[in-house]
Amino acid sequence: MASVRTMGSAAALLMGLGVLPAGAQEKSSTALDVLIQQCAPCHGVDGIGHDTEIPNLAGQHDRYLWLQMMAFRRGTRRHQEMRYMSRSLSEDEIAALVQYYSSLPR
Ligand code: HEC
Repeated sequence: MASVRTMGSAAALLMGLGVLPAGAQEKSSTALDVLIQQCAPCHGVDGIGHDTEIPNLAGQHDRYLWLQMMAFRRGTRRHQEMRYMSRSLSEDEIAALVQYYSSLPR
């Protein structure tokens, strides 16, 4: 199937389906795509919260997002789901996610 082969990557496929915003391709590796899928049910692939209780991450300062993730990890910012999510990730994975979400348009 030539059309599938020329797409080249999962990111291109997701953009074709309208799941990933256009322009996200260069920033997302396959490993990053897998990580983003863990956050997307709540924060979206586009970084826009899916409910009024879920903050938007798109375009937020990367430093701020990093500090919040570390606070959830330590438990100094209390939230059950985010505590679980932040503790299941390595610091490198958190850094990649923070970089991704901060680079998105608000
Ligand atoms: C089950 C839903 C859910 C999932 C999955 C989830 N989050 Fe969250 N996240 C929330 C909620 C709700 C808050 C707000 C917490 C609060 O009220 O203090 C939040 C807060 C945050 C914040 C702080 C934002 C701010 O403006 O202070 C960051 C950063 C964050 N999440 C990143 C992530 C990342 C990265 C992932 C994926 C690894 C993720 N979240 C997965 C629900 C979720």
